[in-house]
This record gives sequence, structure tokens and C-alpha cells, in this order.
Amino acid sequence: MKRPILSPTLAANEKVIALRAAGRKVYHMGFGQAPFPVHPRLHKALCDNAHQQQYLGVAGLPELCEAVLSHQAALTGLNPDDYDVIVGPGSKLILYALQMAIPGDIMLPVPSWVSYAPQAGLLGQRVIDVPTVSVNNTLQLTAESLETAWHEAKRNGLNPTKLLINFPGNPTGITISDPELQAITEFCRQHSTTLISDEIYGRLAFDGQYRSASSHFPEGAVVTTGLSKHLSLGGWRLGVGIVPKAIDGLHQSLIQIASETWSCVSTPVQFAAIEAYTLHADVERFIDNSRQIHKVVNTHIADKLRLMGFDCPTPTGAFYTWPEIASKPDATSTRFSDSQQLADHLLENYGIVSLPGEAFGEDPSKLRLRLSGCDYDGALALSTLEKHGADKLLLNIDEFAPGVSGALQQFEQFAQSH
Ligand SMILES: Cc1ncc(COP(=O)(O)O)c(C=O)c1O
Repeated sequence: MKRPILSPTLAANEKVIALRAAGRKVYHMGFGQAPFPVHPRLHKALCDNAHQQQYLGVAGLPELCEAVLSHQAALTGLNPDDYDVIVGPGSKLILYALQMAIPGDIMLPVPSWVSYAPQAGLLGQRVIDVPTVSVNNTLQLTAESLETAWHEAKRNGLNPTKLLINFPGNPTGITISDPELQAITEFCRQHSTTLISDEIYGRLAFDGQYRSASSHFPEGAVVTTGLSKHLSLGGWRLGVGIVPKAIDGLHQSLIQIASETWSCVSTPVQFAAIEAYTLHADVERFIDNSRQIHKVVNTHIADKLRLMGFDCPTPTGAFYTWPEIASKPDATSTRFSDSQQLADHLLENYGIVSLPGEAFGEDPSKLRLRLSGCDYDGALALSTLEKHGADKLLLNIDEFAPGVSGALQQFEQFAQSH
């Protein structure tokens, strides 16, 4: 299969930049970029370290690695002595390095984030799809679906050695329950499968609980996370991998890959990141406020879409919704044969930029879309929250997030079109 040059999410962003430059009104629901300004403490830390010009050690600044482990210990109870850390230029590259460092084929839930499967493809590894099951308005990985996929893969001559999960999830906006996590980790133990747990949205679970696979599977779950989402620092490009010492040689393999590729992450950014992992009260408040705003905006999007007649799970974290347009029992959707065609139609006729479900491995005929609810003025949203409180945030959404309200109006028109 010919792979697109740009990852779909980055391609959507470039399309929006070009359309806006050409004067088109577009509603950007295609890109997962958290909208809040750089926290002043982190801004200052970066400026204070701008003079640092030296390369750092490949694994990352030791003080930063320590801060990361203390931070995870405080939030999830892991024992810092049991882990090594690697710092990378975004968690995306650490995820790629992990796929490279663990030979064999990868089990991926359907749906899952756009880059996992292409990364496996770049490495010449194969992907084993594991269907998720709809339970109580959420999508879950069950012990049965994992077992079935594993046995079928074995029968077909594949070599499943790793499972990658992500929660709260992109594209679904759904987080995971403890029993589900328990079932997944049990499966991994039984089948000697390394669990890669992408927890980049871990601090954006709407109930404020950071759940981690490391709590259930301390010896076999590699956690990836970073600054991009809960601190809106995607462009700083700082991600971390938290690697159990019990997985023999994995940390060394990652360092080898890093040493031949990215060498080290930007030195000023690493120094500034120590502050991000220090649990300062003001930074924690900023994260709490960001999370509350994401919750209000994205729950609102899901509620509105359901009122229009589309199935849409209620998001429980991150900043995404995952409506199924084919679920509406009328002619709105019958004109489209796949989700790409639907996404093209929405852009062309309503100015809505979305990502088609098929980019996430979903059945194209379900006409699923991944909508990002984060294209708004983050500074204004934060000041509105401080001024009026979380309860009143929704009343002010038209002011701080006119693009989101506008997109929903456009969707309304689409829902009524036949
Ligand atoms: C699920 C998921 N994992 C990983 C990443 C990569 O984040 P970063 O490389 O900025 O740490 C993203 C970014 O959109 C994501 O949505």
C-alpha cells in the first residue's frame, strides 16, 4: 500500500494553513493541538536556560529523569528504583524507537492513533488489529478480543510481541477503567507481551485521576508521556519513556537508537522541563484548569452531536470526539461510501476540517470522524474560567471558542441536509 507522505493529522493542519491563507473560513477540528499559552514559570525557565548550548547525555538530563520518576511516583505510586528514563524529541519518536527496539509484530486496538501503524510499516513490522467492543457508551479492549487476535495472528504466522494502548485515547476521547486495564495487563503477562502504554493524555482524564498501566504491570509496561498535551507544549518537542528495568536490555537498545538519531533533546528545553515535572502548585492549577476546559468543550461537542442524531461516545479525557455519522437513521449519510469522502464533503461544503475514521484503522463505511475540540483562544478560556468558574464556562463558549460553536452550527446544517 502506498503510504501518504504526511501523517493525516499534520496534513490536515497544513491544509488549514493554506485554506486560511487563501481567505477561506474553516473550522479546524482536524489537529490535536492544545491551545493554552506557555505557563509563565515554564516560560521563564526556558528563557533562563537559553544560554545552555552544550549537548547533553543521550538518555537525558539526569535531574530531569529523576524529576520525571518522582512525578510519576507521586501520581501513580510507581517505585522509581524499578525504572529507567529516556528523554526524546516528543513521545512520538520514543514510540517509534520502542517499536524498533522490540522485535516482532505489534498488536494495535482498532481504532488507534494515526501514527502507530505507519511507524510499524516504516520498520517492516506487521500490525495485528484488535477490535474494541462497545460497552456502556465506551469502547473497550476485552480479554476475549485480545485472545482471539493473538491466536489468529499466531495461526497466520505472525509474531505478536507487543501491544500498544493509549488512554485517554486519541481518537475516541475515552479513558480506561481499572478492570479493563487489569484484563489487558493479565493478557500481557500470560503471553509474555510487552505493553507499550501511551499516556500522553494521562493528566487529562476528566475525573482528574491519572491511571497508569505501570500500576498494574510494573515489570512489563513501558510508559510514554511528555509535555505536549496537558501543558500545551507540543512545539517544545519533549517526550519521555519510562522503561522497567525488568525488561532486559530495552533501555540500552533505546539509547543506542537515540545515539544514532536524535543524540539528545534541546538542552534549554530539558532544563525547563524539570520545572514542569516538579508539581509546583501554580503549574498544577494550570493543568487542572486546562482539563476542566477540555471537559466542558468536548462534552458539549458530543452532547450536541447526539442531539443532531449521531451516535457519539461521551468523552472522558483528552480533547477529541468520535461520532459515527452512519448511525443517523436518515439519508444524511447514505450519500457517502467511506469516511474520507464524508470528510472531504464536510470541508468542501461546510468548511469543517475533520479526520476520517479510516485514518485510525476504523471501518470506512461506519463514517466515523475524529473531531478535535481545541481550536480556540486558550488564554481567554483560562481567564473566563478564573472569572466565572467551571460551572459557567459553557455559557461563555461562544465568546472564547467561536470556532467550536461555528463548527457545531455547520454540523447542524449538514445534519439537516438530505
Ligand atoms: C495518542 C498520541 N500519542 C502520541 C502523540 C505524540 O505526541 P508528542 O510527540 O508531541 O509527545 C500524540 C500527538 O498528537 C498523540 O495524540
